[in-house]
Amino acid sequence: MKTRITRTFQCSAVLTAAGLVLAACGSSGDSGREQAGAGSFEGRGPITYAAGKDTTGTLQPVLDRWNELHPEEKVTLVQLPTDADAQRQQMIQNAETKSDAYTVLSLDVVWTSEFAAHQWIDRLPEQHFPLGKMLKPVVETAKYRGGLYAVPASSDGGMLYYRTDLLKKAGIAGPPKTWAQMKDACAEVRKLPEGKGMSCYAGQFQKYEGLTVNFAEAVNSAGGVVTDADGTPDVDTPAARKGLDFLAGSFKDGTIAREGITYQEEDSRQAFQSGKLLFLRNWPYVYSLAQKSKVAGKFAVAPLPGLNGPGASSLGGHNLALSSFAKNKATALDFMKFFSSEQTTRAFLEDASLAPPYAGLYDEPALVKQYPYLPVLKESVLRAVPRPRVVQYGDVTSAMQQEAYAALNGTKSTEQALTDLQKALKNAMGQ
Ligand code: GLC
Repeated sequence: MKTRITRTFQCSAVLTAAGLVLAACGSSGDSGREQAGAGSFEGRGPITYAAGKDTTGTLQPVLDRWNELHPEEKVTLVQLPTDADAQRQQMIQNAETKSDAYTVLSLDVVWTSEFAAHQWIDRLPEQHFPLGKMLKPVVETAKYRGGLYAVPASSDGGMLYYRTDLLKKAGIAGPPKTWAQMKDACAEVRKLPEGKGMSCYAGQFQKYEGLTVNFAEAVNSAGGVVTDADGTPDVDTPAARKGLDFLAGSFKDGTIAREGITYQEEDSRQAFQSGKLLFLRNWPYVYSLAQKSKVAGKFAVAPLPGLNGPGASSLGGHNLALSSFAKNKATALDFMKFFSSEQTTRAFLEDASLAPPYAGLYDEPALVKQYPYLPVLKESVLRAVPRPRVVQYGDVTSAMQQEAYAALNGTKSTEQALTDLQKALKNAMGQ
């Protein structure tokens, strides 16, 4: 029988075998009204959760906990590829065929507008989620035309991982604030016996969403923009060129090793963990994995460097969205509440160093003591620059990837790449 969901939730903390403290959310009676604009959420029973491959190993225990508490409404993980573009492709195919195979989607923060405008995901009732306790820019990523279409589950801010042991040995006082300082530091470390043959820097430069992120960061960190405050493309500028020149020049002068052009997040993490790299741009999930690697205790994180001072990260992260074509939406809404709760995101922070959407967790003294990177991460998220928020995101990101890639592998000058990108972005956005 279908039940209309107009309920409040009660959550209590429980300890799982994996050491995760989770919110056991149940529903209690009828109260509250659904928000105008948000549809009805009916049906209880099994659901699925479609998400990119879990590289942290902490996801399944959370789903197991939900399943223990909800034996009639179990969630099954549909594991999608690690590559963000491939995830998006599969989710879109699923939506275009109106398939009910995916119930809750782990939606990259940049896809909200596209999925909402196509009505592939449902508008959600805001009053069910404690959005006021979350970081504002993070909540904004879940909105489209003023409506809530997803719930923040984890945020992401790029940070600079660096080898504290080697900088110290080379007599360098602290992490670099500028790209020039970073190159100087590499030159000093390479003079050490331990630094011989080391690569200086890596990020994510394969032709996929990670390149869009790294390209936009370079542009923003040089004082440029991809789109201006009104969302109009404005990337054919001297400032943006300085950003792209840093990346293209780094491939030419060996600051970034040639193989860096094939790196996604995981490849670059492995390179850092194996001791090959002095500096790495990556997301917070790397912190807890690297703590269990050969470089444990030998690294720290700092804000990304930029042209004349600290740079700016692209805003990353994942939100939970509800597929419009799914069954059992009442269960799905309960699951989304459980998965995005402060308790669950705290567990993901504690066990996998994922950036929580909740502002308060970044300042809790005990957590900061355990994870000294939290203040850097909070700054990174708060100062992060969103990628273009457009319905045509697929065309926009593919243009950014294509032009940045051409400049990095030297088949186009940075000047030409930016001129071509400006045109392509205008086209994609119908301007
Ligand atoms: C991370 C970020 C996401 C970004 C992706 C790029 O998963 O959270 O926002 O698009 O990396 O590879």
